[in-house]
Amino acid sequence: MDFSLLFAALLLVSFRSASAAARPHVVFILADDFGWNDVGYHGSEIRTPNLDRLSAAGVRLENYYVQPLCTPSRSQLMTGRYQVSQWQIHTGMQHQIIWPCQPHCVPLDEKLLPQLMKEAGYATHMVGKWHLGMYRKDCLPTRRGFDTYFGYLLGSEDYFTHVRCSNIAARNLTRCALDLRDGEEVAAGYEGVYSTEAFGRRATGIIEKHNSDEPLFLYVALQAVHEPLQVPERYLAPYSFIEDRRRRLYAGMASAMDEAVGNITLALRRRGLWDDTVLVFSTDNGGQTLAGGSNWPLRGRKWSLWEGGVRGVGFVAGPLLKRPGTVCRELVHVSDWLPTLVGLAGGNVSGTRPLDGFDVWNAISEGFASPRLELLHNIDPLYVDVAKCPGTGRRFPLAEGVVSGFDVSVHAAIRSSNWKLLTGYPGCDVWFPRPGHNDSAPGSDPPKPPMLYDIEKDPEERNELSAAFPAVVEYLLGRLQTHRQSSSPIDFPDDDPRCDPGPAGAWGPWA
Ligand SMILES: *[C@@H]1O[C@H](CO)[C@@H](O)[C@H](O)[C@H]1NC(C)=O
Ligand SMILES: *[C@@H]1O[C@H](CO)[C@@H](O)[C@H](O)[C@H]1NC(C)=O
Ligand SMILES: *[C@@H]1O[C@H](CO)[C@@H](O)[C@H](O)[C@H]1NC(C)=O
Repeated sequence: MDFSLLFAALLLVSFRSASAAARPHVVFILADDFGWNDVGYHGSEIRTPNLDRLSAAGVRLENYYVQPLCTPSRSQLMTGRYQVSQWQIHTGMQHQIIWPCQPHCVPLDEKLLPQLMKEAGYATHMVGKWHLGMYRKDCLPTRRGFDTYFGYLLGSEDYFTHVRCSNIAARNLTRCALDLRDGEEVAAGYEGVYSTEAFGRRATGIIEKHNSDEPLFLYVALQAVHEPLQVPERYLAPYSFIEDRRRRLYAGMASAMDEAVGNITLALRRRGLWDDTVLVFSTDNGGQTLAGGSNWPLRGRKWSLWEGGVRGVGFVAGPLLKRPGTVCRELVHVSDWLPTLVGLAGGNVSGTRPLDGFDVWNAISEGFASPRLELLHNIDPLYVDVAKCPGTGRRFPLAEGVVSGFDVSVHAAIRSSNWKLLTGYPGCDVWFPRPGHNDSAPGSDPPKPPMLYDIEKDPEERNELSAAFPAVVEYLLGRLQTHRQSSSPIDFPDDDPRCDPGPAGAWGPWA
């Protein structure tokens, strides 16, 4: 063996892996309303072989948090910040997401993840649900860092017709109109095409056409598995054993989603990109038990600050992970992806407003301690939960007044290492049984705020410990007050009737 040749070969190998590690392809797949008990590897009856296999060979994030609702999670993913706007502190039922006629979007002075990836030299593509505002063109994904976009701008719609119906109060009418765009143009011609397949196909098409000299950033925000419960018949066949109709439909939708994820990874392998890819899979919030989702054994659901609302299904896959096949129990939050992914991309976050997220790559890839010691779940003085909470429909006795400087009647929650403190009414607090099971879950009586749980020992939030740990309660209330003082002022515009696309139009920018 010629040693200089060997040396050259080694140099080439190490240079190659160094450059690949510096700018890997990044594929981020976001599921919508996918619950804790809805993925195969958490023991679900729903079959998700692709998610199970990918995550088993990657790193499962089992102490991973998202926001309890679509728009807040998505805005934190895109900005790396908690308090980008009213969505974090102003999330009453009417206010917590962007409604079709609201003249609002993620503030235009926020620098978004795709812009930073673009600056780092990436080709940037988005497929699927935006839901970060669209009243003017400047708010659209193609104006905020994505080279291409195919998807829908609002929060939900029909999976086959791609039509969204919404009440326009000022016009006293309900408008049903198309919400699907290719770039900035209305995308007609997808009538009857199931969105999970349309989006899966667009994503694989982007991968097949990708020029592999350039690093790729692909954000796939699937419609699945948000309501309405719709799925082609063929995905239902394996689930005839599920009696609950909503759960059966939901299971079929999750299977279609799993297939789309399988197709995307297959396309990456075929295109020869997989060896240099970091793939992230995440839900945007907990499952919606009213629409087939399940977070068992966690308490609560989407729209609540209980673990069922905020503890997310998530994992990272791909050969660049240093400890594949492990479980990460370090604290990771959806706001951490921006610094983490921009860091992987060799990019620069100096152009952003102050970040709340941390670069957690070493925690995920190598099992180091997470730099994140605290997590503000939310503070929302105007929170109203109008969805019917089964059983008692109870509201906590709202404790009046200020304790350790913080008004404990306010809906809020914060986590610090193993401790989680909740105040006000955190949202529906039921331990929903698994569909088709007689899960009985004796818990404590509805506690009185502030409520303290040791999440590491008690992830189901059954043992309220505030009386036993008054110093921890006082410390966390102080932290909540500090965050409250630094939060953005509320800015929540009324509907603008000019949003009406008319009987033949499509939802989109009007201002
Ligand atoms: C709104 O429309 C309904 C039904 O079309 C009608 O009965 C009602 O009077 C209208 N209200 C207003 C304020 O125009
Ligand atoms: C996955 O790919 C197969 C083969 O191309 C296709 O038939 C199927 O519709 C795809 N599934 C989804 C959900 O995109
Ligand atoms: C990041 O950008 C800032 C300002 O543009 C610059 O001063 C700094 O050197 C950059 N850092 C890196 C690591 O490129």
